[in-house]
Amino acid sequence: MSEKTLPKSLWGFYFKYAARNHWGLLVVWALAFMCVMAEGVLFPNFQRMFISLFEKTPAAGQNLVQFALPTILIIVSTLLLLDLCVIVRSITRARWQPRIENQISEVLTDYVQHQSMSFWSGRMAGKINSQINYVSAGFLAIVNFMEMAGALAVIFVNVGLILSINAYVAIIFAFVFVFRIVYGGLLLRPMGSASKNASDSNSRLAGKIVDSLANFSVVKLFSGAESERRYLKQARGQSIAARVHSYFVQRLFWAVPNLVWDIAFGATMILCVWLFMRGRLLVSEVVFTTSVFFSVMGTISRIVDQVPAIVDMLGSAKKSYDELAVPIDVTDAPNAPALQVPHGKIEFKNVWFKYNKRWILRDFNLTIEPGQSVGLVGASGAGKTTLVNLLMRFYDPTRGEILIDGQNIRDVSQDSLRRAIAFIPQEPTMFNRTIAENIAYGCADATPDQIRAAAVRAAADGFIRRSENGYDTIVGDRGIKLSGGQRQRVAIARAFLKNAPILILDEATSALDSETETAIQRSFEALAHNRTTIAIAHRLSTLRNMNRIVVMRHGRIIEQGSHRRLVRRGGEYARLWKMQSGGFIQE
Ligand SMILES: Nc1ncnc2c1ncn2[C@@H]1O[C@H](COP(=O)(O)OP(=O)(O)O)[C@@H](O)[C@H]1O
Ligand SMILES: [Mg+2]
Repeated sequence: MSEKTLPKSLWGFYFKYAARNHWGLLVVWALAFMCVMAEGVLFPNFQRMFISLFEKTPAAGQNLVQFALPTILIIVSTLLLLDLCVIVRSITRARWQPRIENQISEVLTDYVQHQSMSFWSGRMAGKINSQINYVSAGFLAIVNFMEMAGALAVIFVNVGLILSINAYVAIIFAFVFVFRIVYGGLLLRPMGSASKNASDSNSRLAGKIVDSLANFSVVKLFSGAESERRYLKQARGQSIAARVHSYFVQRLFWAVPNLVWDIAFGATMILCVWLFMRGRLLVSEVVFTTSVFFSVMGTISRIVDQVPAIVDMLGSAKKSYDELAVPIDVTDAPNAPALQVPHGKIEFKNVWFKYNKRWILRDFNLTIEPGQSVGLVGASGAGKTTLVNLLMRFYDPTRGEILIDGQNIRDVSQDSLRRAIAFIPQEPTMFNRTIAENIAYGCADATPDQIRAAAVRAAADGFIRRSENGYDTIVGDRGIKLSGGQRQRVAIARAFLKNAPILILDEATSALDSETETAIQRSFEALAHNRTTIAIAHRLSTLRNMNRIVVMRHGRIIEQGSHRRLVRRGGEYARLWKMQSGGFIQE
């Protein structure tokens, strides 16, 4: 079930989706986790209990084994229980972590798939993918944060216990603790900026390297390897300097507290000896004190070490979530019915549209009768693509309405609207899957025969059968292994298979050579037969046989009519036609 809205805050999102269906596992894990945490308090006490056995005398007739056995049994059975908790904790975590990470990624991926075009324009797929990963990682950061909170609780309990034995040592602990926190707090900012610097200069370098590698053909063509090396050298230098600095600050962060810690340990030992000599400390208490010292200091180091990273991860998760979870601005009305297209009449009524602040369409009116074909012509930027984007409801008009067979496209479900439209863009993109899968995309139940028939009608069957694995040839990233014309024909085959009543072509022939174009032109005409068709083209020759040609400028229609009439009229279209046909007005 896909989600159409997401909670406003990251916390709400985690609460609602991260743990969905996994609460049981999480609760068991949390209980086991708390038991394991208790070990930090229990262990020094066990040492103290054991050593204190040697400070007492067994009752008459009792040997040492009998005397010590109950204590040893208590200690060992508790430790075994804790081992069991460790196992339970590991098993439950192994079960929930991959599932929850995946669930977060699934909900978000699904949500952005439903995002409107305005979301996608200006965002890169790669970045969205890493933002989704940040949100997954953020959940683990919360878990780590809880671990740290647990560790902190253990410290407080231990220091409290020490306080009851001897206040001096507690004071030393408190001093080291406060020092560590203050020192960490002071270094946090320089450390953060050093590591941000390092990662920034690293990603700048990575970007430059990727850019350089992606343009390998230009590099080869211009023998540019040496100049690329020089070009990258500076960025490499900056990256090295920033990383050296970052490592340095981090090491500093560790080194100084270690010195303080060791000195504090010396002071603790002296104090223990001094108190022991005055009979105010038992050996078992000395053991307890040193044991707690190591566990407390280790825990403090871990907390101070991990908390900045955790805070950082949560920050990235929150920022990423806020960018991903923006409300979808083109949505279905509640219980929107499916679009019915018995005829295929399209009407644009007083349509106004702007991107940001600039009006692209102004009071645009156009009616296309069922089965009619209309060619859209106009300088680039005239608003032709915008018009078809509105018809497919990638955006909603600011004012006015668009009707298909009398139904406002805002009132019907987007899925049904797009099922009714076959769209062939200027540069069709392909999935890195087989040709057959690409043709059948969106028609999951198409048979191989139907796929082949569609390819034959799109004049694609020939080249497909000549390729390596025929219909099972993988087309490469974005279809890179196919030529522009071949991709175009796969897209036409897609449209044939989709068999939608409305057909839209957006400069679909502009990337083709003349020969391919002629072949594809025939496929287009076959495809357009009996369908309401809107074709945008720069090459006017492709539009000659359209029922009507509409010439646009600055979001308005400036003339329309058949090719013949427009040529005879001697207006804008005639001027363009004359230019393209080398000065001869052909007829
Ligand atoms: N996503 C967008 N955001 C902002 N402006 C856009 C966007 N898409 C197109 N435009 C602007 O809208 C105008 C019309 O674009 P378009 O409809 O693509 O023109 P055409 O297809 O006729 O060449 C252009 O000036 C273009 O810069
Ligand atoms: Mg365009």
